[in-house]
Amino acid sequence: MTDNVRVTGPDAPETPATAALRPRLPSPLHEAPDERFARHGVRLLLKRDDLIHPELTGNKWRKLAPNLDAAAGRTLLTFGGAWSNHLRATAAAGRLLGLPTVGVVRGEELAARPLNPSLARCAADGMRLHFADRAAYRRKTEPDTLAALLRAAGAEDAYVVPEGGSNAPAVRGCTALGQELRDRADVAAVACGTGGTLAGLAAGLGPGRRAVGVPVLKGGFLGGEVRALQRKAFGGPRGEWSLDDRFHFGGYARVPAGLEAFAADFEDRHGLPVERLYVAKLLYGLLTMTEEGAFPPGTVLAAVVTGRPFDGDAPAGTPQTAVSR
Ligand SMILES: Cc1ncc(COP(=O)(O)O)c(C=O)c1O
Repeated sequence: MTDNVRVTGPDAPETPATAALRPRLPSPLHEAPDERFARHGVRLLLKRDDLIHPELTGNKWRKLAPNLDAAAGRTLLTFGGAWSNHLRATAAAGRLLGLPTVGVVRGEELAARPLNPSLARCAADGMRLHFADRAAYRRKTEPDTLAALLRAAGAEDAYVVPEGGSNAPAVRGCTALGQELRDRADVAAVACGTGGTLAGLAAGLGPGRRAVGVPVLKGGFLGGEVRALQRKAFGGPRGEWSLDDRFHFGGYARVPAGLEAFAADFEDRHGLPVERLYVAKLLYGLLTMTEEGAFPPGTVLAAVVTGRPFDGDAPAGTPQTAVSR
Protein backbone atom coordinates (compact mmCIF):
# COMPACT_ATOMS: atom_id res chain seq x y z
CA MET A 1 0.00 0.00 0.00
CA THR A 2 1.64 3.24 -1.05
CA ASP A 3 -0.13 6.52 -1.26
CA ASN A 4 -2.19 7.68 1.66
CA VAL A 5 -4.66 10.02 0.01
CA ARG A 6 -5.86 12.59 2.53
CA VAL A 7 -9.57 13.00 2.51
CA THR A 8 -11.04 16.33 3.34
CA GLY A 9 -14.41 15.30 4.63
CA PRO A 10 -17.06 17.65 5.91
CA ASP A 11 -16.60 18.87 9.44
CA ALA A 12 -18.77 16.52 11.38
CA PRO A 13 -20.60 18.15 14.27
CA GLU A 14 -19.52 16.92 17.69
CA THR A 15 -22.17 14.83 19.43
CA PRO A 16 -22.02 13.07 22.82
CA ALA A 17 -21.01 9.81 21.10
CA THR A 18 -18.26 11.40 19.01
CA ALA A 19 -16.98 13.36 22.00
CA ALA A 20 -16.77 10.25 24.19
CA LEU A 21 -15.57 7.71 21.66
CA ARG A 22 -13.09 9.75 19.61
CA PRO A 23 -13.56 8.15 16.20
CA ARG A 24 -10.95 8.58 13.48
CA LEU A 25 -12.91 10.61 10.96
CA PRO A 26 -12.77 11.04 8.07
CA SER A 27 -11.50 7.48 7.77
CA PRO A 28 -8.26 7.02 5.78
CA LEU A 29 -8.40 6.47 2.04
CA HIS A 30 -5.49 4.44 0.65
CA GLU A 31 -4.58 3.61 -2.89
CA ALA A 32 -4.09 -0.15 -3.33
CA PRO A 33 -2.01 -0.58 -6.49
CA ASP A 34 -3.12 -3.87 -8.04
CA GLU A 35 -2.21 -4.92 -11.55
CA ARG A 36 -5.42 -6.95 -11.91
CA PHE A 37 -7.36 -3.67 -11.80
CA ALA A 38 -4.67 -1.49 -13.40
CA ARG A 39 -4.62 -3.55 -16.59
CA HIS A 40 -8.25 -2.48 -17.13
CA GLY A 41 -7.41 1.16 -16.41
CA VAL A 42 -9.07 1.07 -12.96
CA ARG A 43 -7.49 2.61 -9.83
CA LEU A 44 -8.50 0.79 -6.68
CA LEU A 45 -8.80 2.78 -3.44
CA LEU A 46 -9.55 1.27 -0.04
CA LYS A 47 -11.77 3.38 2.20
CA ARG A 48 -10.58 2.23 5.61
CA ASP A 49 -13.72 2.52 7.68
CA ASP A 50 -12.34 -0.43 9.65
CA LEU A 51 -9.94 2.07 11.24
CA ILE A 52 -12.62 4.47 12.54
CA HIS A 53 -12.65 2.95 16.01
CA PRO A 54 -11.00 -0.16 17.49
CA GLU A 55 -14.33 -1.61 18.67
CA LEU A 56 -17.02 0.19 16.68
CA THR A 57 -15.48 -0.64 13.35
CA GLY A 58 -16.61 0.50 9.96
CA ASN A 59 -20.25 0.89 9.26
CA LYS A 60 -20.96 -0.02 12.89
CA TRP A 61 -19.72 3.38 13.97
CA ARG A 62 -21.54 5.21 11.23
CA LYS A 63 -24.84 3.47 11.98
CA LEU A 64 -24.63 3.31 15.75
CA ALA A 65 -23.37 6.79 16.62
CA PRO A 66 -26.64 8.61 15.76
CA ASN A 67 -28.61 5.96 17.66
CA LEU A 68 -26.38 6.19 20.72
CA ASP A 69 -27.09 9.91 20.80
CA ALA A 70 -30.81 9.38 20.23
CA ALA A 71 -30.97 6.78 23.04
CA ALA A 72 -29.90 9.60 25.41
CA GLY A 73 -28.87 7.26 28.19
CA ARG A 74 -31.83 4.85 27.93
CA THR A 75 -31.21 1.13 27.69
CA LEU A 76 -30.45 0.27 24.08
CA LEU A 77 -32.00 -2.99 22.84
CA THR A 78 -31.16 -4.58 19.53
CA PHE A 79 -31.27 -7.89 17.66
CA GLY A 80 -28.85 -10.28 16.02
CA GLY A 81 -27.74 -13.81 15.27
CA ALA A 82 -25.21 -15.71 17.35
CA TRP A 83 -22.23 -14.24 15.45
CA SER A 84 -23.62 -10.76 14.86
CA ASN A 85 -21.01 -7.99 14.37
CA HIS A 86 -23.76 -5.51 15.17
CA LEU A 87 -24.49 -7.06 18.58
CA ARG A 88 -20.78 -6.99 19.48
CA ALA A 89 -20.42 -3.36 18.42
CA THR A 90 -23.53 -2.36 20.38
CA ALA A 91 -22.27 -4.14 23.48
CA ALA A 92 -18.88 -2.42 23.19
CA ALA A 93 -20.54 0.97 22.77
CA GLY A 94 -22.62 0.28 25.87
CA ARG A 95 -19.51 -0.49 27.90
CA LEU A 96 -17.63 2.56 26.61
CA LEU A 97 -20.52 4.98 27.18
CA GLY A 98 -21.93 3.42 30.35
CA LEU A 99 -25.17 2.65 28.54
CA PRO A 100 -27.14 -0.49 29.47
CA THR A 101 -27.62 -2.80 26.45
CA VAL A 102 -29.85 -5.79 25.76
CA GLY A 103 -29.26 -8.15 22.86
CA VAL A 104 -32.16 -10.23 21.58
CA VAL A 105 -30.50 -13.27 20.01
CA ARG A 106 -32.08 -15.47 17.34
CA GLY A 107 -32.55 -19.05 18.61
CA GLU A 108 -34.01 -20.00 21.97
CA GLU A 109 -32.04 -23.25 21.90
CA LEU A 110 -28.77 -21.29 22.28
CA ALA A 111 -29.72 -20.38 25.84
CA ALA A 112 -28.89 -23.91 26.98
CA ARG A 113 -25.44 -23.96 25.37
CA PRO A 114 -22.17 -22.30 26.30
CA LEU A 115 -21.85 -18.86 24.72
CA ASN A 116 -19.88 -18.77 21.50
CA PRO A 117 -16.92 -16.33 21.44
CA SER A 118 -18.97 -13.57 19.83
CA LEU A 119 -21.80 -13.72 22.38
CA ALA A 120 -19.25 -14.19 25.16
CA ARG A 121 -17.68 -10.89 24.10
CA CYS A 122 -21.11 -9.23 24.20
CA ALA A 123 -21.76 -10.57 27.68
CA ALA A 124 -18.33 -9.54 28.89
CA ASP A 125 -19.12 -6.02 27.70
CA GLY A 126 -22.19 -6.04 29.93
CA MET A 127 -24.85 -6.78 27.33
CA ARG A 128 -27.78 -8.70 28.75
CA LEU A 129 -28.67 -11.47 26.30
CA HIS A 130 -32.21 -12.61 25.71
CA PHE A 131 -32.70 -15.68 23.51
CA ALA A 132 -35.84 -15.59 21.39
CA ASP A 133 -37.45 -18.48 19.55
CA ARG A 134 -37.00 -18.29 15.81
CA ALA A 135 -40.69 -17.78 14.99
CA ALA A 136 -40.96 -14.74 17.29
CA TYR A 137 -37.60 -13.47 16.07
CA ARG A 138 -38.82 -13.53 12.46
CA ARG A 139 -41.86 -11.45 13.41
CA LYS A 140 -39.94 -8.98 15.62
CA THR A 141 -40.93 -5.94 13.56
CA GLU A 142 -44.65 -6.60 14.13
CA PRO A 143 -45.78 -4.33 17.00
CA ASP A 144 -47.40 -7.09 19.12
CA THR A 145 -44.45 -9.44 18.79
CA LEU A 146 -42.00 -6.63 19.51
CA ALA A 147 -43.94 -5.61 22.61
CA ALA A 148 -43.95 -9.22 23.84
CA LEU A 149 -40.20 -9.54 23.20
CA LEU A 150 -39.48 -6.32 25.09
CA ARG A 151 -41.64 -7.52 27.98
CA ALA A 152 -39.95 -10.91 28.06
CA ALA A 153 -36.53 -9.23 28.00
CA GLY A 154 -37.55 -6.90 30.84
CA ALA A 155 -36.79 -3.87 28.67
CA GLU A 156 -40.12 -2.26 27.86
CA ASP A 157 -38.71 1.29 28.01
CA ALA A 158 -35.69 0.55 25.87
CA TYR A 159 -34.61 2.49 22.80
CA VAL A 160 -34.93 -0.14 20.05
CA VAL A 161 -32.48 -0.45 17.17
CA PRO A 162 -33.42 -2.94 14.43
CA GLU A 163 -31.36 -5.97 13.43
CA GLY A 164 -28.22 -4.87 11.59
CA GLY A 165 -28.67 -1.36 13.00
CA SER A 166 -30.30 0.04 9.86
CA ASN A 167 -32.95 2.59 10.74
CA ALA A 168 -33.44 6.16 9.48
CA PRO A 169 -30.83 7.78 11.81
CA ALA A 170 -28.32 5.06 10.82
CA VAL A 171 -28.87 5.63 7.10
CA ARG A 172 -28.48 9.37 7.58
CA GLY A 173 -25.28 8.64 9.55
CA CYS A 174 -23.90 6.76 6.53
CA THR A 175 -24.27 9.80 4.24
CA ALA A 176 -21.00 11.07 5.79
CA LEU A 177 -19.27 8.10 4.16
CA GLY A 178 -20.48 9.27 0.75
CA GLN A 179 -19.51 12.86 1.53
CA GLU A 180 -15.98 11.76 2.46
CA LEU A 181 -15.67 10.01 -0.91
CA ARG A 182 -17.18 12.83 -2.93
CA ASP A 183 -14.62 14.11 -5.46
CA ARG A 184 -12.27 11.25 -4.55
CA ALA A 185 -13.87 8.35 -6.44
CA ASP A 186 -16.10 7.81 -9.47
CA VAL A 187 -17.62 4.64 -8.06
CA ALA A 188 -17.91 3.68 -4.38
CA ALA A 189 -18.68 0.07 -3.56
CA VAL A 190 -19.86 -1.60 -0.37
CA ALA A 191 -20.93 -5.05 0.81
CA CYS A 192 -24.58 -5.20 1.86
CA GLY A 193 -26.52 -7.03 4.54
CA THR A 194 -29.59 -4.91 5.30
CA GLY A 195 -28.64 -2.26 2.70
CA GLY A 196 -28.53 0.61 5.20
CA THR A 197 -24.91 1.52 4.52
CA LEU A 198 -25.47 1.57 0.75
CA ALA A 199 -28.62 3.70 1.17
CA GLY A 200 -26.66 6.37 3.05
CA LEU A 201 -23.48 6.11 0.98
CA ALA A 202 -25.40 6.67 -2.29
CA ALA A 203 -27.16 9.68 -0.78
CA GLY A 204 -23.88 11.28 0.27
CA LEU A 205 -21.99 10.91 -3.03
CA GLY A 206 -21.99 13.88 -5.34
CA PRO A 207 -23.69 14.17 -8.72
CA GLY A 208 -22.13 12.04 -11.46
CA ARG A 209 -20.85 9.49 -8.91
CA ARG A 210 -22.44 6.16 -8.24
CA ALA A 211 -22.55 3.49 -5.58
CA VAL A 212 -22.44 -0.26 -6.16
CA GLY A 213 -23.71 -2.73 -3.56
CA VAL A 214 -22.70 -6.37 -3.29
CA PRO A 215 -25.29 -8.29 -1.24
CA VAL A 216 -23.87 -11.14 0.88
CA LEU A 217 -27.27 -12.74 1.38
CA LYS A 218 -29.08 -14.77 -1.22
CA GLY A 219 -32.52 -13.75 -2.35
CA GLY A 220 -32.48 -10.68 -4.56
CA PHE A 221 -34.74 -8.75 -2.15
CA LEU A 222 -32.37 -5.95 -1.29
CA GLY A 223 -33.33 -3.34 -3.90
CA GLY A 224 -36.74 -2.86 -2.26
CA GLU A 225 -35.12 -2.62 1.17
CA VAL A 226 -32.67 0.08 0.07
CA ARG A 227 -35.51 2.10 -1.51
CA ALA A 228 -37.59 1.74 1.67
CA LEU A 229 -34.66 2.82 3.86
CA GLN A 230 -34.04 5.89 1.70
CA ARG A 231 -37.74 6.76 1.90
CA LYS A 232 -37.63 6.54 5.71
CA ALA A 233 -34.36 8.47 6.00
CA PHE A 234 -34.80 11.14 3.32
CA GLY A 235 -38.43 10.97 2.16
CA GLY A 236 -37.51 9.54 -1.25
CA PRO A 237 -34.75 8.21 -3.51
CA ARG A 238 -31.27 9.73 -3.28
CA GLY A 239 -28.17 9.25 -5.41
CA GLU A 240 -27.36 6.67 -8.03
CA TRP A 241 -26.85 3.09 -6.94
CA SER A 242 -27.10 -0.45 -8.21
CA LEU A 243 -26.73 -3.96 -6.83
CA ASP A 244 -24.84 -6.95 -8.17
CA ASP A 245 -26.39 -10.08 -6.70
CA ARG A 246 -23.87 -12.61 -7.98
CA PHE A 247 -21.34 -12.69 -5.15
CA HIS A 248 -23.11 -14.13 -2.09
CA PHE A 249 -21.21 -17.43 -2.50
CA GLY A 250 -24.19 -19.53 -1.46
CA GLY A 251 -25.52 -17.22 1.25
CA TYR A 252 -24.71 -15.52 4.50
CA ALA A 253 -21.57 -16.77 6.27
CA ARG A 254 -20.69 -19.16 3.43
CA VAL A 255 -16.98 -18.90 2.70
CA PRO A 256 -16.06 -21.56 0.13
CA ALA A 257 -12.40 -22.46 -0.45
CA GLY A 258 -12.12 -20.27 -3.57
CA LEU A 259 -13.23 -17.17 -1.66
CA GLU A 260 -10.94 -18.01 1.26
CA ALA A 261 -7.98 -18.31 -1.13
CA PHE A 262 -8.89 -15.02 -2.82
CA ALA A 263 -9.10 -13.23 0.55
CA ALA A 264 -5.80 -14.68 1.83
CA ASP A 265 -4.09 -13.63 -1.42
CA PHE A 266 -5.56 -10.10 -1.16
CA GLU A 267 -4.22 -9.87 2.41
CA ASP A 268 -0.74 -10.84 1.16
CA ARG A 269 -0.83 -8.36 -1.70
CA HIS A 270 -2.12 -5.38 0.26
CA GLY A 271 -1.48 -6.01 3.96
CA LEU A 272 -5.17 -5.56 4.62
CA PRO A 273 -6.91 -7.88 7.12
CA VAL A 274 -9.85 -9.04 4.99
CA GLU A 275 -13.09 -9.72 6.85
CA ARG A 276 -14.51 -12.81 5.15
CA LEU A 277 -18.33 -12.55 5.40
CA TYR A 278 -18.69 -9.13 3.79
CA VAL A 279 -15.44 -7.50 2.67
CA ALA A 280 -14.01 -10.57 0.87
CA LYS A 281 -17.21 -10.92 -1.17
CA LEU A 282 -17.12 -7.23 -2.07
CA LEU A 283 -13.49 -7.35 -3.24
CA TYR A 284 -14.04 -10.56 -5.22
CA GLY A 285 -17.10 -9.02 -6.86
CA LEU A 286 -15.22 -5.83 -7.76
CA LEU A 287 -12.39 -7.77 -9.39
CA THR A 288 -14.87 -9.81 -11.43
CA MET A 289 -16.79 -6.69 -12.50
CA THR A 290 -13.51 -4.99 -13.45
CA GLU A 291 -12.43 -8.00 -15.54
CA GLU A 292 -15.84 -7.95 -17.25
CA GLY A 293 -15.30 -4.30 -18.23
CA ALA A 294 -18.00 -2.87 -15.95
CA PHE A 295 -15.82 0.20 -15.22
CA PRO A 296 -14.48 2.31 -18.10
CA PRO A 297 -10.70 2.93 -18.20
CA GLY A 298 -9.82 5.87 -15.97
CA THR A 299 -12.35 4.89 -13.29
CA VAL A 300 -11.34 5.53 -9.68
CA LEU A 301 -13.02 2.79 -7.70
CA ALA A 302 -13.30 3.00 -3.91
CA ALA A 303 -14.01 -0.21 -1.99
CA VAL A 304 -15.37 0.49 1.48
CA VAL A 305 -13.69 -1.72 4.08
CA THR A 306 -16.66 -2.00 6.42
CA GLY A 307 -15.14 -4.32 9.00
CA ARG A 308 -12.25 -6.36 10.29
CA PRO A 309 -11.98 -10.08 10.96
CA PHE A 310 -13.26 -10.99 14.43
CA ASP A 311 -10.43 -12.55 16.43
CA GLY A 312 -12.87 -14.64 18.43
CA ASP A 313 -11.01 -14.33 21.71
CA ALA A 314 -13.50 -14.29 24.51
CA PRO A 315 -12.22 -12.56 27.62
CA ALA A 316 -11.59 -15.05 30.41
CA GLY A 317 -14.28 -15.55 33.03
CA THR A 318 -17.15 -14.34 30.87
CA PRO A 319 -20.13 -13.93 33.20
CA GLN A 320 -22.88 -16.37 32.28
CA THR A 321 -25.18 -14.39 34.57
CA ALA A 322 -25.49 -11.79 31.82
CA VAL A 323 -27.78 -14.21 30.01
CA SER A 324 -31.56 -14.01 30.26
CA ARG A 325 -34.14 -16.01 28.37
C1 LIG B 1 -18.42 -5.88 8.08
C2 LIG B 1 -19.78 -5.53 7.54
N1 LIG B 1 -19.87 -5.00 6.30
C3 LIG B 1 -21.06 -4.69 5.75
C4 LIG B 1 -22.23 -4.88 6.43
C5 LIG B 1 -23.53 -4.56 5.76
O1 LIG B 1 -24.10 -3.41 6.22
P1 LIG B 1 -25.65 -3.11 5.95
O2 LIG B 1 -26.43 -4.03 6.86
O3 LIG B 1 -25.81 -1.69 6.29
O4 LIG B 1 -25.93 -3.43 4.52
C6 LIG B 1 -22.19 -5.42 7.73
C7 LIG B 1 -23.42 -5.63 8.52
O5 LIG B 1 -23.86 -4.77 9.21
C8 LIG B 1 -20.93 -5.76 8.30
O6 LIG B 1 -20.83 -6.29 9.53
